[in-house]
Formats: sequence, C-alpha cells, structure tokens
Amino acid sequence: MNYFWKLIGVVHVVITWGGSISTIKAMPPPPPVQCNQTGGCILKNAYGAWGDRKDCHASNVTYPATEEELRLAVAHANKNKLKVKTVSKFSHTIPKLACPCSQSQSTLLISTAKLDSNIDIDVANLAVTADAGVPLRQLIDRVEEENLSIVAAPYWEGLSVGGVISTGAHGSSWWGKGGAVHDHVIGLSLVVPAKESEGYAKIIRIEANDPLLDAAKVSLGLLGVISKVKLSLEPGFKRSITFNFTDDAHIEDILMDHAKKHEFGDITWYPSRRTAVYRYDDRVPLNTHGDGVNDFIGFQDTSILISKSTRAAEKALEKAKNANGKCTLAATVLGFKKLIANGFKNNALIFTGYPIVGRQGKLQTSGACLYSRRVDTSCAWDPRINGLFFYETTAIFPANKFKDFIRDVKKLRDLKPENFCGVDSYNGFLIRFIKASSAYLGQSEDSIVVDYNYYRADDASTPRLNQDVWEEVEQMAFFKYGAKPHWAKNRKLAFLNVQQKYANFSRFLAAKKQMDPQNMFSSEWSDEILFGTEADKFDGCALEGQCICSEDRHCSPSKGYFCKPGLAYTEARVCRFSQSPMTSIV
Ligand SMILES: Cc1cc2nc3c(=O)[nH]c(=O)nc-3n(C[C@H](O)[C@H](O)[C@H](O)COP(=O)(O)OP(=O)(O)OC[C@H]3O[C@@H](n4cnc5c(N)ncnc54)[C@H](O)[C@@H]3O)c2cc1C
Ligand SMILES: *[C@@H]1O[C@H](CO)[C@@H](O)[C@H](O)[C@H]1NC(C)=O
Ligand SMILES: *[C@@H]1O[C@H](CO)[C@@H](O)[C@H](O)[C@H]1NC(C)=O
Ligand SMILES: *[C@@H]1O[C@H](CO)[C@@H](O)[C@H](O)[C@H]1NC(C)=O
Ligand SMILES: *[C@@H]1O[C@H](CO)[C@@H](O)[C@H](O)[C@H]1NC(C)=O
Ligand SMILES: *[C@@H]1O[C@H](CO)[C@@H](O)[C@H](O)[C@H]1NC(C)=O
Repeated sequence: MNYFWKLIGVVHVVITWGGSISTIKAMPPPPPVQCNQTGGCILKNAYGAWGDRKDCHASNVTYPATEEELRLAVAHANKNKLKVKTVSKFSHTIPKLACPCSQSQSTLLISTAKLDSNIDIDVANLAVTADAGVPLRQLIDRVEEENLSIVAAPYWEGLSVGGVISTGAHGSSWWGKGGAVHDHVIGLSLVVPAKESEGYAKIIRIEANDPLLDAAKVSLGLLGVISKVKLSLEPGFKRSITFNFTDDAHIEDILMDHAKKHEFGDITWYPSRRTAVYRYDDRVPLNTHGDGVNDFIGFQDTSILISKSTRAAEKALEKAKNANGKCTLAATVLGFKKLIANGFKNNALIFTGYPIVGRQGKLQTSGACLYSRRVDTSCAWDPRINGLFFYETTAIFPANKFKDFIRDVKKLRDLKPENFCGVDSYNGFLIRFIKASSAYLGQSEDSIVVDYNYYRADDASTPRLNQDVWEEVEQMAFFKYGAKPHWAKNRKLAFLNVQQKYANFSRFLAAKKQMDPQNMFSSEWSDEILFGTEADKFDGCALEGQCICSEDRHCSPSKGYFCKPGLAYTEARVCRFSQSPMTSIV
C-alpha cells in the first residue's frame, strides 16, 4: 500500500470519528482515557503503548473541576474501597505509574483534565499557585503576562503542573534552585483519604517549611491527589542562545564547565557523527532586543505523511539490517538540525542567525504539535498514524561519575561507530543538568541526566538492529554507574533495585504510609516501578527491556538474537544478532 492510500485511510478514520465530512477533526493528541457503554475504561499514554504492551483498565473515571469535587471523589473511593490513580489530561508518562490495578478490582481514575481553572499570581511575593491540572503552557503564559518567569520546566510543554512535579521532570540548570521543577515548589495541597468522621477525605496544605514537602513534591501520585501547586517565580527575563555544532573531542572534560558557565546549558552528543552540540544559553535582561521562540523540531506539528514515511524508511532499514542506511538518515537529520538551529527561531517565523534572544516563556519549552488544527499534521509519535515509535532511556548520574560513563560509551562507539547511527537519527544523547534536591525521590546531589531515544518495533517479539548496543549503554548507566532512572521514562529493567539508590527512600515510604495507610493509591503497576522488583522471565522478555537476558530464550534465538556479554561492559547481558549461537559478532 503506498503512502497516499495510507494517508487517505487516516483521513477516512478521522472523518468517521467526526461523524460526517462537515466535522473533520484536527489532530491534537487523543484523550488518554476512553470508556465504553458497558462501563470500563482504558488508559493510554501519549505513545499509545505501555512497556508490557498490555492495556490498562479502570472501572470508571471522574473529572473533578474544583478542589471540593476532587475531595468528594477521593471520599467516594475511600468509602467504597476503590483503588485510585490520578492521571492528567496528557498522560505523557511512559511507565505504567498511573494504572490502577488488575481488571478484577473496582478502580477509579481521577483525571485532572478539568481541574485547571485557577492560576493565582502573587506578584509581591514572586509566587504562583495553580490547580494541578493546569497545562504547563497556560501557566507559563499567564506568569509571563505579569512580566515574571518560571525558571525551570521540561523541554516539552504538553504536561500538567501536577504531573510534572510528580515524576521529577526537569529542564537543565545547575544555577539557583536548578533545572528540576519540583525544586521551585514552595507549597502544595494534597487530597488524601481520611476517617469517616472527617468525611472520608481531607485536604492537606503543605507549606515550604513542612518536612512533608520533601515527600510530596516528587511523589509519583502515591501519596494522594495534588490539587494545587505553588511555585516560586523570578522577575521576567530573556535568554540568549547559540548552538555550537562542533566535534566531540574532550566532551567529558568540557561538560561540567559548560554547566557552570551557562545557566541553561545542555549538550547533545551524536556519537556516530563524532559531533557535540553545545548549547550556550544565558539569561539576559528583559530589555535586550529579540523575540525568539523555541519550536524544537522534534515537537513541531509534523506532516503525517512525513512521520509515516520516516517510520516506513526505518522499518525497511531494520528489516534489511542496514546500519549504513541509518547512518545516512542520521547525517541528513543532523545536517538539517544545524541548518535550522534545531527549530529555534529569531522571531515567530524563521531562524536567521545566532544568537537567538527571546523571553524565558518562549524559549524554555515547546510543543507546537499539541495544537494541531489540521487533519494532515500531528505529533510525530501520534499512535493513530503509524508514525514514529521509540523507546526513551533516561539515566540520572551523580555528576562525578558521568565522565567515566562517557569514556565507556566512546569505547563502545570506537569499536563500530555505525552502531550508534540509530540513536543519532533521533536526538543522539541529550545531556542535561539537575541540581541537588531535598526531595526524597529527587536527586540528593548535583547530577547529570542523559536521554536517548531508539527505534521500537511494532511487535514486541521483533528484535531491533543494534539493540545490543542500547542495552549495553542502558545497563552500564543503571548498574555499572548506579544512575537513577527518570521516573517518567525508561523500560522496566531500569528500575531494578531503584530503592537502594535513594538514601531517603524509607522516609518517602513513611510519608506514604502516613498519608495513604490503606495503599489506595498504589497498584501492582506502580509497585513494580517503585520497588524495582525482578519478575519472572519469559521467552523474549529482554527484547523490550522487561528483563535482562540470562538465557538465549530471553532474546530471540529463532531470529538469530542470542544472550551475550557486553563489549565494553562485559557484565552486561544483551541480545545480540549472530549467525550462530557460538560466534559473537561485533
Ligand atoms: C514527548 C515528551 C517529552 C518529554 N520531555 C521531558 C523533559 O524534557 N524533561 C522531563 O523531565 N520529562 C520529560 N518528559 C516526561 C514528562 O515530563 C513526565 O512524563 C510528566 O510526569 C508527565 O506529566 P503529565 O501531566 O502527562 O502526567 P501523567 O503522565 O498524567 O502522570 C504522571 C504521574 O503523576 C501522577 N499525577 C499526575 N497528576 C497528579 C496529581 N494532580 N496528583 C498526584 N499525582 C499526579 C500520575 O498518577 C502519574 O504517576 C517528556 C515526555 C514526553 C512524552
Ligand atoms: C468495554 O471496556 C471493557 C473494559 O475495558 C472491555 O473489557 C470491553 O471489551 C469493552 N467492550 C466493548 C463493547 O468495547
Ligand atoms: C462512575 O463515576 C461517576 C462519577 O464520576 C458516577 O456518577 C457513576 O455512577 C460511576 N459509574 C459506575 C459504573 O460506577
Ligand atoms: C510588562 O512589561 C511591559 C513592557 O515593559 C509593559 O508594557 C506592561 O505594562 C507590563 N505588564 C505588567 C502586567 O506589568
Ligand atoms: C565550539 O566549541 C568548541 C569546543 O568547546 C570550541 O573550541 C569552539 O571555540 C566553539 N566555537 C564557538 C563559536 O564558540
Ligand atoms: C534525607 O532527609 C533528611 C531529612 O530531610 C536530610 O537531612 C538528609 O540530608 C537527606 N539525605 C539525603 C541523602 O538526601
């Protein structure tokens, strides 16, 4: 079937959903919770697939619009002994954290999609208090209207305030309070179960100096439902950004200085291209000339045709095990990014040259595809279009260990650089900085985060080109260097023994027990992540990171993928392609 007909197929589906041609719908992301008449709902994440590829069921969903409605929902659940999970309008978390338990139990999803009407700015005290469901973009724009700025935010804006802090989401900075949003939280309100005499649920207001805040600001939805978040602000400012596309020599020696010199600096490393892109990103006064915007290429409203053909090209290269083809793709993508400054623009329209100067609210975060108004454009990963489909590994290192990790990855790269083209055709290795935090599930020391994306097959049993390399880097990060997994990303294996990586994990558990003694907000899915326990291994479990292989059958021997030691980190166990089980191919 050619692309034209596939596209027609999508348009047809859209028209069918709309009911008639006159109501053709645009393609913003689909709502995450879908329910049917017989009762019963399914929760999906933004990529439309959980790590285990199984559906997440809930018996019911409710959409409180006020704090009191939210309290009543929690009370109802407590009174009726329902398992509860909170989910935002976006559901952009990749692990199954928001999934409320197995099908047999009565469960309730509380969506914050409508809990979004209040944004109160206290100009004198430089603070904003927002309902937990407020979308990040709305919050930022409202704050900037007052000529104030929120200093930290993730690079993607399609998130709710409550969701962002709950998983420790971050941008990049070692300055001031740092790049993680929760470190700018100076108060929050939490709805928790209560005794019958208290009406089955109550609202707790946690202020800046309350020790509970260290448990509540990164709490994975496990303490209760956050109704309001209070963030500290700064006087409005602008930033000046230049991307330096250069070689990757000494990247490991440069990176700490880079973070110290540039308030919002980051680095993108493309190992196969031997290229590092240093982002020089500094605060400048509000009266500096410039009206730049961040319209990051990966988050642009993308032609569905392009997303589909990129996916089709990737699939063809996978099928042919054509690493060099991936290298051509990586080179093309990188060349294009350099040409258009990764999508950053000097004004609303176009990139004309460095530096890009603009307001904080326009430069920190982006997400144009969220607002698609056309039937033929969407986010490139929209699950309805057979577009991009990938994994996201995000490892958070104590700063002093990162240098050796980079050296190890370079060793692995030098064995066969083209093995890294598959990662470079996405975003390479994005390196960001997070400052030490008092949050129990945050980073207790200054840290460096690395993110990399890589191809995921349509089918869980299909092995992927060079998957051994991503697996080796993944195991190196989490087990050799003890990196912590980002709570909102990663495959299951990354969470193995995660609790031992947090010195204050027991303090978090104590707070959880205090707030939610009946474990109403816990499920087998969130337990799996929080406790990082190893489950039984099954045939093919390592292909999608559900386990680390220890036998060939955990890979795919019938397709020539066998369980082998890592090449640079020999303790790693990875699924590698080879013509026969006895020969290992580099
Ligand atoms: C394209 C993309 C780009 C991303 N970019 C970044 C990035 O640059 N930096 C980064 O750090 N992360 C990034 N992320 C991850 C993202 O920040 C997190 O997944 C974030 O938690 C999602 O927020 P959400 O509003 O969608 O929350 P959801 O996914 O709906 O929920 C997240 C978790 O928080 C809980 N929760 C949500 N709301 C509440 C509430 N009101 N009270 C209690 N618990 C609640 C849920 O139960 C769940 O456990 C990205 C993800 C995607 C898909
Ligand atoms: C309705 O949803 C339930 C729960 O998700 C599911 O098991 C059932 O198959 C669905 N029924 C229909 C008719 O879609
Ligand atoms: C689902 O929740 C709503 C409240 O949001 C309630 O009115 C309805 O009765 C519930 N349905 C079931 C089947 O429990
Ligand atoms: C913000 O600053 C601009 C430019 O200095 C000014 O015109 C505007 O009135 C200010 N807005 C507020 C709410 O202070
Ligand atoms: C780019 O980075 C390299 C390596 O740090 C440095 O040598 C070079 O001077 C930088 N170029 C610019 C224009 O800043
Ligand atoms: C653990 O929490 C206590 C109390 O808040 C704090 O004093 C200590 O520094 C924390 N330890 C770590 C490693 O974060």
